Amino acid sequence: MKIAIVGTGYVGLVTGISLALQNHKVICVDNDKNKVSKINKGKSPFFEPDIDKYLKKVLKERTLKATNDLQGAILESNVTIIAVGTPTINSKIDLSFIKTASAQIGESLGKVKNYHVIAVKSTVLPGITEKVIKPILEKYSKKKVGEFGLCMNPEFLREGNAIEDALNPDRIIIGQIDDKSGKEFAKIYSKLSVPKIFTNLATAEFTKYAANSLFATLISFSNEISRIAETTENVDVLDVWKGVHLDKRLSPIINSQRIKPGVLSYILSGCGFGGSCFPKDIKALSSFADEIGSEGGLIKSVIDINTTQPQRMILLLKKAMGAANLKNKKIAVLGLTFKPNTDDIRESVALPIIETLLSQEAIVVAHDPMAYKENISPQLTNLPITLADTLKEALENAEAAIVVTAWDEYIKLSPEFFIKMMKKPIVIDGRRIYDKHSFLKKGVIYKGIGT
Ligand SMILES: NC(=O)c1ccc[n+]([C@@H]2O[C@H](COP(=O)([O-])OP(=O)(O)OC[C@H]3O[C@@H](n4cnc5c(N)ncnc54)[C@H](O)[C@@H]3O)[C@@H](O)[C@H]2O)c1
Repeated sequence: MKIAIVGTGYVGLVTGISLALQNHKVICVDNDKNKVSKINKGKSPFFEPDIDKYLKKVLKERTLKATNDLQGAILESNVTIIAVGTPTINSKIDLSFIKTASAQIGESLGKVKNYHVIAVKSTVLPGITEKVIKPILEKYSKKKVGEFGLCMNPEFLREGNAIEDALNPDRIIIGQIDDKSGKEFAKIYSKLSVPKIFTNLATAEFTKYAANSLFATLISFSNEISRIAETTENVDVLDVWKGVHLDKRLSPIINSQRIKPGVLSYILSGCGFGGSCFPKDIKALSSFADEIGSEGGLIKSVIDINTTQPQRMILLLKKAMGAANLKNKKIAVLGLTFKPNTDDIRESVALPIIETLLSQEAIVVAHDPMAYKENISPQLTNLPITLADTLKEALENAEAAIVVTAWDEYIKLSPEFFIKMMKKPIVIDGRRIYDKHSFLKKGVIYKGIGT
């Protein structure tokens, strides 16, 4: 198949590479010339494990190229996938990128001679593909659905594991406006033998929100439990989760072997979830529930718990320091990305933690193995913090360290290292990556979420 992908961010480029590896001819389109030029040189504009290796391979095999020429890409293709951003602004989904892209695609679609399918991969609320995108495509192409196909194909890849997820998805959901659209579009996945679920457009859209909200709910539930545990004598939530996880309904025993399903990593307490999906999607779903008159009370609680969870780190910090005042105290923040193995800091929990520290006049020195200075978003560049090149620089003379991201580099640190480097070895563990007992035994003042 010949496939145009509009938007070469995390989803667009990773999808493009995975389809090119399956021998389709892929043209990745972006209106950011810098991104296009980087991609054509074999350099991904963002970090994902192994992405440059695969990108170079598909460029060499000429199964993928990048361009700014949207019309040229669509005229050369049978399928166009929309993968532009759909951020949430003031708790509402912002459709401006997808509306503009749809109008541009519509204009080109008007010039296409053969049957062509447009598929929305961007995350959009139920009804958007049919009620917003379809009329724009029809208006600008001067064609009616039927003359072209329309699908909604939600994406479930996880940053940090994106290439692997795109090459080996657990399921493919294809929302279709009619059978012909779905049948034609499904050809792009013909090499993947995984369950393919064909639905209407709104169900496909809703499936993505339900999936993300489920995982976000598990995290906030685990954090609520940790708050109760923190004020309960002699309870460490980490031990509680160990016991809960061993329930056979959560981790079954098959052929005498304990299976550890991935869902268990969402039933753990920490300083909250961030990233480009969970926070924005759950807020958009909550506003949507309000608009259609549904209650959505649980979803609101999930958001509330997550919004306040980073502040628990400041409470733990003050308790550990025995200080009500953080003025002029050097605090090291370890981890800026919203999770390990990505350079994405969108809605990272590090941001509210840093803002609170700064509002209390602390001196913030942050470190992250991946957030190189050039990749850091304006949100961080504008903050009066020092970005340390090395862990040593971040911890030297610090009065406390707050661990926000569970990078391997941090997991490996010993209590001795903190003791040697810091003015005072106070460690606030937002991801529970350290062994509390050995840290305390060695003389670190250790506090973690849920203990
Ligand atoms: N990032 C994830 O892990 C993930 C996972 C599943 C679903 N999604 C969804 O996929 C969508 C894309 O997410 P992302 O993280 O890849 O976004 P992103 O912001 O990283 O990338 C979007 C890209 O689209 C480009 N773009 C915007 N308007 C354009 C236009 N008119 N023409 C050409 N290019 C245009 C931008 O320049 C940018 O490169 C969102 O709806 C998101 O919710 C993201």
